[in-house]
Amino acid sequence: MADLNELKEQIKEIQNEVKKSLEGIDSSKGLYEYKKLMLDGKRGKIGSLMRGMGSVPKELKGDYGKNINALKEWATDLFDEIDNKLKQQERNLRYEAEKIDVTEPAAKTAVGRLNPITMVKYELTDIFTAMGFEVYEGTEIETDYYNFTALNTPDDHPARDMQDTFYFPDGTLLRTHTSPVQIRAMLEYGAPLRIICPGKVYRRDNDTTHSPMFNQMEGLLVDKNVPFSVMKGTMAEMLNAFFGKSLKYRFRASYFPFTEPSMELDIECVECSGHNEHCRVCHGTGWLEVAGMGMVHPNVIRAGKIDPDEYNGFAFGIGLDRMSMLKYGISDLRLLFDGNVSYFLSGFGGVERC
Ligand code: PHE
Repeated sequence: MADLNELKEQIKEIQNEVKKSLEGIDSSKGLYEYKKLMLDGKRGKIGSLMRGMGSVPKELKGDYGKNINALKEWATDLFDEIDNKLKQQERNLRYEAEKIDVTEPAAKTAVGRLNPITMVKYELTDIFTAMGFEVYEGTEIETDYYNFTALNTPDDHPARDMQDTFYFPDGTLLRTHTSPVQIRAMLEYGAPLRIICPGKVYRRDNDTTHSPMFNQMEGLLVDKNVPFSVMKGTMAEMLNAFFGKSLKYRFRASYFPFTEPSMELDIECVECSGHNEHCRVCHGTGWLEVAGMGMVHPNVIRAGKIDPDEYNGFAFGIGLDRMSMLKYGISDLRLLFDGNVSYFLSGFGGVERC
């Protein structure tokens, strides 16, 4: 390669080849590989020219070197320029692919929520456990003894009627109330005792205000010298905590075989506070019945193997379905049990809770 012209020819060829090859390169990675290949001392066209300098006669070395260096510079500049372009293109593509349109409306996701009865059950459980009550869960299938006899319910009591109670062929039954847990808890733990029992109960009832399965929360407190006022205070505390405001309430004389005296707890109508004679919730009475209760009958204490001369107490049964309808403004009891969740997803007809 003693001829400078020959070298210049060769350089031109290389330049043409490089320009042509670069047209076919469309990624910075491809360019990198090509660049490495061209500059490679052994295989690369430019690299081997530089390496070949050693065999060039001394007097030509200067010119050779200049030309080869110029070629190298030219190639490196060109590679850099193209590399910048390709990288910019690649960045743009990536940005385009990763672009997030923050103004796009969010996709609707299905939100689950607890049934209002479950929420009320949890809320009341929190309230009572804070007052020292423990949760005692009984069974939904009961014997006649626990459901009635031990609760001082006479054989001829109408609640025992086939009309009211679901009986199984073997004589067991679906509990008609959560009160049988009073006996089970007393037998298991003795006195003193403070329990609540949330759970399902069953009666042969089915209309707009009654469902054959509904939910109660039983409460039982047994101790020495329990005054009526403790029951009153416990209920007032529960109502305040549950409704988040101080509501008017009253005890209305009633009858249950297992309590004496017995009463029902009414609260001031949460909808109209007694100011609307056409109120859809209280139907103009101004009052809503939420629980049955009373001082535990000595026979019941005795059935729990506790001495009624030493211990007394009070018991209550709160209607959980009623309480959730009142708290969440649900107008039809059956909505709590049917499969149409859209009503609840829309916030129970107005009241948004989680
Ligand atoms: N068990 C009664 C009912 O189902 C409610 C109740 C419970 C009343 C405890 C008094 C004491 O109606």
